[in-house]
Amino acid sequence: MKGISRSVRKVDHDGKVSGRALYIDDIHIRGAVHGKVVRSDRAKADILGVELPSLPRDYIAVGWKDVPGNNWVHIVDDDMPVFAVDKTEYAGEPILLIAGPCRQTVEALCSQVKVSYREWDPVLGMEDSSTAFYEEEFCYGNPEKAFEEGDMTVDETFYTGYQEHAYLEPQGITAYPEHGRMVIRGSMQCPYYIHGAVAGALGLPPDRVRVIQDVTGGGFGGKEDYPSVLACEAAVAAWKLGKPVSLIYDRREDMECTSKRHPSRSRYRAAVRGDRITALDVEVDLNAGAYKTLSLVVLQRTMICASGAYAVENLRVHGRALKTNTVPCGAFRGFGDPQVFFAVETFMNHIAARLGRDPWEFKLKNLVKKGDHNSTGGRFHFRVPLPQMLERLDAVSGYREKKVLYSRDKGRVRRGIGLGLHFHGTGFAATKDAADGVCIKLHKTAQDVVEVLTSNTDMGQGLSTTFAKIAGEALNIPYDQIRVPMPDTDHVPNSGPTVASRSILTVGELVRRAAVRLKAEWSPGADQIIEEHFTAPDYMVPFDGGRFFGDPYPAYAWGAAVVELAVDTYTGLAEVLRVYAVFDVGTVMDENIVMGQMEGGILQGIGYASMEQMNVDQKGRIRNNSYSDYIIPTSLDVPDIRVEMYEEPCPDGPFGAKGAGELPNGGVPQAYAEALEQVLGTGAVHHIPFTAEETLRVWEEGQHE
Ligand code: MTE
Ligand code: MOS
Repeated sequence: MKGISRSVRKVDHDGKVSGRALYIDDIHIRGAVHGKVVRSDRAKADILGVELPSLPRDYIAVGWKDVPGNNWVHIVDDDMPVFAVDKTEYAGEPILLIAGPCRQTVEALCSQVKVSYREWDPVLGMEDSSTAFYEEEFCYGNPEKAFEEGDMTVDETFYTGYQEHAYLEPQGITAYPEHGRMVIRGSMQCPYYIHGAVAGALGLPPDRVRVIQDVTGGGFGGKEDYPSVLACEAAVAAWKLGKPVSLIYDRREDMECTSKRHPSRSRYRAAVRGDRITALDVEVDLNAGAYKTLSLVVLQRTMICASGAYAVENLRVHGRALKTNTVPCGAFRGFGDPQVFFAVETFMNHIAARLGRDPWEFKLKNLVKKGDHNSTGGRFHFRVPLPQMLERLDAVSGYREKKVLYSRDKGRVRRGIGLGLHFHGTGFAATKDAADGVCIKLHKTAQDVVEVLTSNTDMGQGLSTTFAKIAGEALNIPYDQIRVPMPDTDHVPNSGPTVASRSILTVGELVRRAAVRLKAEWSPGADQIIEEHFTAPDYMVPFDGGRFFGDPYPAYAWGAAVVELAVDTYTGLAEVLRVYAVFDVGTVMDENIVMGQMEGGILQGIGYASMEQMNVDQKGRIRNNSYSDYIIPTSLDVPDIRVEMYEEPCPDGPFGAKGAGELPNGGVPQAYAEALEQVLGTGAVHHIPFTAEETLRVWEEGQHE
């Protein structure tokens, strides 16, 4: 193991383990009052009137008329009002915020607000939507010709459901005015996103807004855009009141009203010739919910990843993000790729079965390799180590042997085994990173202490430790002598958001370069600042998002997972016996941190595939708004997980690292589906989550002895 991979004590270890770490709800800010949002309970309606109860002294209500700037929460677009004006587009849409000193009184006042509506029929499912927020298409090669010349065409449709982030700490933000400025602090992934949104809503110049990240109890993409919503709500109230307003969502509110993973429907058509896929035609739709939020970027990744880890010469992908009157969906670990990885992988298995081929061989035959075009006409510039990883995976999991062995299972409990391949393109389009003027600073104080100044956030993924290790390694000083302060927009430059697993590759590399320079220029006792700016590697074809052309990602992390199930055919319950996985995230920056990422992600993948089911009712509301109704894997559901890392170092990443955060959940659902199909019959699974009830139904419908 390389020096840098050796695990160290995380810089946030003591606070987290002892319980002393302060989250936003633990922080007492002098004079802070509690805020609570009054929400629409209609999915689609005109708001005819709002009647407030009489408010005791020190209590205020704010709505759209109190927004001093633009009544939009700026995300990618400006389409989501801070407070509803005259209509509501989903049940849960914010109408007002009431704030005051006593939480119970605030809650009581909220429940006395009377809103009168004129209701319209809501669009609750994608199938009924006639509005596409985004509609994109790209085509590569000549799919039409390939379909004509193929031996066979296969056509199937796949569906995936919602997924709730289930971060440990619900969303929470406190806003307070200070010397004519607005300060925002709390739980977040992207301080500068909030900075822009609040400046817009308050109509303030950027230098009059300050955003500080507090200890953040998980985000998984859910704290990428949504904290901007809380920040605007709280800031409007704090501005009017002239006092700090603290807005902490409770769990039910958080589960019902904040963003989710987009449900998807994808129709796959393949032309097959011999044992090759010669063309793919994919139509993928995402249920965006009522507002656009991050759907454009999620849809882009969904579409780019639609052909999976396979080389497809002729490819057409058409994608839409459809509007419905349901909770807006946003980013969630994998950012739109788990939806299509499940689909394309399951599709590949079904095609292999039709050809009478072993799915393992069939997938190997069609894999991408170095030099191949990616789905958007760029290239895989580096070695694709999947064949080597698969060899290792077979050796540790015994997949091929077990595939034969388990097919002989008889009786009540039957076993199945499945394989899932996937990747994660780290970062986003190089051009965007460059355009954003990504910048980091190293600050060496007169006491010779080094601070890493970036806007990237640690939300449990260990980033502050990893940044300290990178700087320490390059400076050749122990990592615990490096400080990584919590991002505060008054002190850190904009190094971009903490999304798309970009922090290590994009920002970490800047930290390394700055540290190398600082080492060369080190002057004891002097105050020194070193700045580094991002530039895209010159071999990359700049990605053009409008045309879907070029190299979308600077690097690819690869994954292969095997899931073994024991299915009880009397109850439909599928017990995950073991998960084996081989991952390549380049150089492992810290063994424990990376293993934590891998194991946690695998578990999120299991939940997504098997039990995490979220439904909207006839009124457009999410009813499973607690962990007794929305089931996620618990410690008792953790199977035997065996992860091996395969290190294919990335020349552009710090010490060869590529980024690991969003890789691990992406391979499990399809492996789970294949394992289940070994018991239920190939072709049985076209959607996830595939619950015990459905397993039982399919089993009972089948012709089983
Ligand atoms: N790990 C923990 N413990 N908590 C999180 O919220 N978020 C994931 C992943 N791993 C998350 C996590 C998501 S969605 C992303 S984009 C990456 O971490 C972001 O971190 P990175 O850029 O440092 O990889
Ligand atoms: Mo991760 S979904 O990019 O925050």
